Amino acid sequence: MNETIQSILNRRSIREFKEEQINDEDLNIILECGRYAPSGMNRQSYAFVAIQNEEMMHELVNECMQITGRDGSPFYGAPTVILVFGDVNSNTYIKDASTAIENMHIAATALNLGACWINCVDDLFNSKKGEKLREEIEIPNNYKCVGSLALGYIKGDYPEAKPRKENIVKIIK
Ligand SMILES: Cc1cc2nc3c(=O)[nH]c(=O)nc-3n(C[C@H](O)[C@H](O)[C@H](O)COP(=O)(O)O)c2cc1C
Repeated sequence: MNETIQSILNRRSIREFKEEQINDEDLNIILECGRYAPSGMNRQSYAFVAIQNEEMMHELVNECMQITGRDGSPFYGAPTVILVFGDVNSNTYIKDASTAIENMHIAATALNLGACWINCVDDLFNSKKGEKLREEIEIPNNYKCVGSLALGYIKGDYPEAKPRKENIVKIIK
């Protein structure tokens, strides 16, 4: 099968990661795939912040644990988290950022890395609670957080694909 199609079909949400950090080359390829995502009128309204710094990761995890009320890390211990923001001055910013997250997720699959879209960051950065972290990562207020991608080496078994809904596709000839 074509390798691109294979990566799309093999993509899974991975929720168990090794502690080992991913290498810079892979990270840069993944971010580049985000930058090459389509965007409304080519405004490229997205912005990416990859967190690998231990102290900052700790802060991010703690804040998100409070927001979600979860005991464990909402990022499942992934050593890298890519925060994805969108410039609200573009009316397609949510769609632009979402295409970028998906591009990066597929790229991670192609590189045999695990990834999972993590939602709670939007609640964090788009509220007062996230102001301190926003200042630390130097992202201006006109960039809203749309989501994030937890990234790392896969630990444990590769998950089976979840069953897909029937009757959601029509081909009208
Ligand atoms: C917009 C969006 C938000 C998501 N947020 C989370 C999340 O916060 N935590 C999580 O574990 N998975 C999250 N996921 C992953 C979904 O749960 C996952 O895509 C779905 O269960 C299908 O599984 P698959 O990705 O392995 O095909 C999110 C996915 C999307 C598209």
